[in-house]
Amino acid sequence: MFSKTKLAIGFALLLALIFTIPVFAGGWAVITLDELPTDVVVGEEFTVGFMVLQHGKTPMTDLSPIIIANLNKDSHFKVIAKEEGKPGHYTATLTFPKEGEWNWTIEAFSMQQKMPTLIVSAPSVAVVSEPVTESITQISTSPNFVIAIAAFVIGLVSLFFAVQRKSKLAASITALCLMIGLALTIAGTSVPAVEAQSESSSSEVIESSVSQVEYGRDLFIAKGCITCHYNSKAASHSEYWTIEPTGATNLSNFSADPLILEMRLKDPTSVNSNSQMPQLDLTSDEIQALIAFINSK
Ligand code: HEC
Repeated sequence: MFSKTKLAIGFALLLALIFTIPVFAGGWAVITLDELPTDVVVGEEFTVGFMVLQHGKTPMTDLSPIIIANLNKDSHFKVIAKEEGKPGHYTATLTFPKEGEWNWTIEAFSMQQKMPTLIVSAPSVAVVSEPVTESITQISTSPNFVIAIAAFVIGLVSLFFAVQRKSKLAASITALCLMIGLALTIAGTSVPAVEAQSESSSSEVIESSVSQVEYGRDLFIAKGCITCHYNSKAASHSEYWTIEPTGATNLSNFSADPLILEMRLKDPTSVNSNSQMPQLDLTSDEIQALIAFINSK
C-alpha cells in the first residue's frame, strides 16, 4: 500500500532527521573560507584554507574535514584537509582534472557546507588570447585595405576620363573615390586606437562583470554567514541548512546603513558588546561586497 509519494515523504523525513540530530546535539559549526578561490586552472594545484568554529565561536581542532568536488558522474574527487596554522584552521591542496563549473562541499564536524560553484578554466587561455586579438585586427583591416586600393584605381581611371573627355560623371566618380579613400583612412587610424583601448581595459571589464553583489552573495555562503542567517537571495532553505541560532536575523528583506554594517562586519562587538556573531577576519573588500549584497533588492 506504499504509494510513491508516501515513500518520498518518508525518505525526506528520514533525511531531515539525519541532518537535525547532530544540530540538536550541539554539533554545528561555521566553516569560513579564507578567501573565495579565483583563477583556478585545470591540472594546477591550488590550496584552500578555512576555519571551523563550533557554534561560530570555538575553534575546532583534531578534525579531518573532507572536501568533495563534483563536476558530473564521471568527474569527482575527495581530499582530506589537514590542520595548519592557528587552531581550527585547515588547508587542502586540490588539483582539478577538467575544466567546467564544479560543485564542492566541505564536510567538517557533521556539517556539510556547500561552497559557491567553482569555475575551473582550461590551462591555455592566457597564452592563446594574444594571437587571437592580433588575427582579429588583421581580418578587420584587410577588407578596408582592398576597398581603398580599388577606390584608388577607379579614382585614377575616372580622373583620366574627367580630364581627357571633360566627363561630369567621371569627375563625380573621382570625388566619390576620394571620399571613400578619406573615410577609410580615418577609419583605419581610429580602429586600432579603439582596439588598443579595449585591450588595456579588458582585465577591468572581466573584474567588474562579476558584479559586487554577486561576489557578496558568494562570500555570504563561503564565509559561513548562511549557517546562521537565512537569506533567500543567497540560497533557498532546501539548498542550505541554516541553523538560525537565537538572534540571528533573517536577512532576506533586510537592509541597513552601510556604515553601521561596516562596523558590525569588521567587529560585531562594536555595535553590540554581547554579540553572538563571530568576528570572521573579513578584508575591507569582502566587507564592501557583503554590504552591497545585503542591501541589494
Ligand atoms: C554564529 C552565527 C553567526 C554567523 C556565522 C554570522 N552571524 Fe550575523 N548575527 C548573528 C547574531 C546572533 C546576530 C544578532 C546580533 C548580535 O548578536 O550581534 C547577528 C547580526 C547580524 C546583522 C545585523 C542584523 C540586525 O538585525 O541588525 C547582520 C547584518 C549580520 N549579522 C550579517 C552577517 C554576515 C554578513 C555574516 C557573514 C560574514 C554573519 N552575519 C555571520 C549570528 C551570526
